Amino acid sequence: KIQRTLALIKPDAIDKSPEIEKIILEEGFTVVDRRRVRLTRAEAEEFYGEHRGKSFYNSLVDYITSGEVLAFILAGDDAINHWRRVLGPTQVSRARHEAPGSIRARFGNSNNDFHNAAHGSDSVNSAQREIRFFFPDLTLEPVLTGE
Ligand code: CMP
Repeated sequence: KIQRTLALIKPDAIDKSPEIEKIILEEGFTVVDRRRVRLTRAEAEEFYGEHRGKSFYNSLVDYITSGEVLAFILAGDDAINHWRRVLGPTQVSRARHEAPGSIRARFGNSNNDFHNAAHGSDSVNSAQREIRFFFPDLTLEPVLTGE
């Protein structure tokens, strides 16, 4: 099934974006659109709204607003899970053990498990929400669903 997902290169990995983009293309994703932006604190709080109230919420907002991010709409077969596999586990140390070739293993911060270089939507609903968040003016045709 063809899906779209939102991929986000986080501020500390933006210098590695050419290498990460190369991986995106080698993995067979289609880049539907891309945008480089610096999020305001309010925007970051909205984007990560589901984590509001958690112990790490403020540090997460600090991290994601510390510089520019690069957002991509990726399309492809099973794109949501495919991109999450390419990312590897959320924690950098786990990614290095369990998925050494993954983006988080290769580009995540060795000194901070959660400064993990990149993000991917975790469901069809969050993909839709996150794509709209970064690309509010873009009209996309519905993806054909069918198993
Ligand atoms: P991401 O895939 O962008 O989704 C939410 C982010 O919150 C996650 O990657 C990490 O960067 C961060 N995060 C998740 N869990 C924790 C945690 N326990 N402590 C600090 N940061 C976290």
